[in-house]
Amino acid sequence: MRTYELIQKKRDGGELTAEEIEALLKGYLSGEIPDYQMSALLMAVFFRGMTAQETTALTMAMVRSGETLDLRAIRGTKVDKHSTGGVGDKTSLVLIPLVAAAGVPVAKLSGRGLGHTGGTLDKLESIPGFTTELSAEAFVSQVNRIGCAIAGQAADLVPADKKLYALRDVTATVDSIPLIAASVMSKKIAAGSDAIVLDVKTGSGAFMKTLDGSRNLAKTMVAIGNAAGRRTVAVISDMAQPLGMTVGNALEVREAIETLRDGGPDDLRELCVTLGAQMLVLAGIAVSEEDAKARLERLLSDGEARAKFREMVRAQKGEAPAPSSGVVVAIDAERIGLAAMALGAGRAKKDDVIDPAVGIVLRKKVRDAVREGEVLAAVHAADRRRAGEAVARVQAAYAIGRSAPPAGTLIHEIVT
Ligand code: URA
Repeated sequence: MRTYELIQKKRDGGELTAEEIEALLKGYLSGEIPDYQMSALLMAVFFRGMTAQETTALTMAMVRSGETLDLRAIRGTKVDKHSTGGVGDKTSLVLIPLVAAAGVPVAKLSGRGLGHTGGTLDKLESIPGFTTELSAEAFVSQVNRIGCAIAGQAADLVPADKKLYALRDVTATVDSIPLIAASVMSKKIAAGSDAIVLDVKTGSGAFMKTLDGSRNLAKTMVAIGNAAGRRTVAVISDMAQPLGMTVGNALEVREAIETLRDGGPDDLRELCVTLGAQMLVLAGIAVSEEDAKARLERLLSDGEARAKFREMVRAQKGEAPAPSSGVVVAIDAERIGLAAMALGAGRAKKDDVIDPAVGIVLRKKVRDAVREGEVLAAVHAADRRRAGEAVARVQAAYAIGRSAPPAGTLIHEIVT
């Protein structure tokens, strides 16, 4: 059938086959089907909806439009989590280290804020030096090493969603349940986890304002996930008022840390424990929700969840470890200055723009004792590549010897 006839079929309430949906998506991505025809189809879907088969077919065609993440190298049942977005929703910052501390490996790809809703990447990037740009190899190896990682989605994952979302955004077709469900689930399926817990928000601060709408969206997404062979559960949580007491990136990170310190607001804690319990049950490491909740409460009160958060932040921040044990005998100040300059703290050319957020924090100075692997300095970089380069430069600037040199002089002379 021609594109015209497929639009007509959907407009008149017909059901598109999986082959027709695949052909439409492929045609749109190749540029053969223009924006105006895809816009008409999206509007027909908006009014006519999609059957469960159509929605799953659209999701899987979107998954096939790009690369998928292969997480097989990570041991255990990987469980992902996704929120449909809300105000003050800092859940992932608490939940991911919390369930990782319980033994569930989490390889989480997160997004940025959309409209009035915040995004986990923006929140994490308010931690100085934290990078969310991880290669697939670094991402997988970090999850194997410490149990969790949160990174930004690579551009080659579900390119169909980027193109379709941009079109929906300008054609008043964003708030269609099958289109939202296919958009979210295609990204979750491409991200490779074995099981998925969805936090579907409902209320004034959510995309879905009514409980009926949120329940429909939740059921649609759970059906897609299960049809794709990923065990999927959705929790519908309230977004009639902001979650917790803070809204805004750095403030939300602080509130998440308070919660990991066994404090924080009750609603945030309850939501994290509820979502976490579903994740533990899906991973098969808790016998019941009650058992899972009790374990998660314990990990919050005994500091293990907080320690896991610190481990994740340390892993995703550039830190220069000491190559050997001994005493710092010298730090080449010029080399450190050049490393900071290369990060963007200084100018190499006169019109270079200074990045005020980047730089180096020394943790060891001359005459300090160090153990092999201990952090000499932390690098605050704008991206992973420059962080790696700066770490190597910082290590080269430190000289480590066997015994401490004589105490140095700070004020050499006063000349009048
Ligand atoms: N979030 C998404 O990822 N996709 C949508 O369509 C709506 C919200």
